[in-house]
Amino acid sequence: MLIVGNWKMFRGPDPAALAGLDAVVCPPFTRLRDCVEAGLTTYAQNVHWDKEGAYTGEISAPMLLELGVVGSLVGHSERRQYFGESDETVGLRARAALAAGLRVVACVGETIEERRGGKTEAVLRRQLSVLEPHPDLVLAYEPVWAIGTGQTATPETAQEVHAFIKSLLDAPVLYGGSVKPDNAAALLAQPDVDGALVGGASLEVDSFKAICETAARIPS
Ligand code: PGA
Repeated sequence: MLIVGNWKMFRGPDPAALAGLDAVVCPPFTRLRDCVEAGLTTYAQNVHWDKEGAYTGEISAPMLLELGVVGSLVGHSERRQYFGESDETVGLRARAALAAGLRVVACVGETIEERRGGKTEAVLRRQLSVLEPHPDLVLAYEPVWAIGTGQTATPETAQEVHAFIKSLLDAPVLYGGSVKPDNAAALLAQPDVDGALVGGASLEVDSFKAICETAARIPS
């Protein structure tokens, strides 16, 4: 079970309060060092495919590794929605980060229009087509309609989609989208749900810890 906290563009909790927790944190860039120094397994929220270059606002895998960061999210739906991230750039980012020695959590998921239009499988197939299996690659299924909305996929829907994703690409699959202490157990109990990518609930120490404790109780 892997629990990953995505702090997005929030300052987030005091890293010292999370010390010893069996989880990954993805703080904003300004807090990466604090998290590493607190002994937390720390990932970035994004990573560029080049080692260095004229790419204002971007960060490279060697720069992250130098800081003690051990992984990165790639292709979060907010990157796709607001910053023009495409399947092609998601593939470039994931490949370069893995080659450089970072672990990667690559995010996929459909919008509500795509789900209503019966396009969920086609969208996932397209998003996954740029990725190849790798021992350090983990996927996150994050239906866009469930992110920050309080509307979670049912455990049955999550299970169905996770099984479909695994039929296309052999990797552990986290579920993300309004995971909270009170729904984590049912989602994580599904056989193909291998952990959670937690946004809002990772900003509060108590709720993040509660989700990690729930995960620890589920036999792997
Ligand atoms: P949420 O965010 O838990 O606040 O829905 C999840 C994510 O975007 O990773």
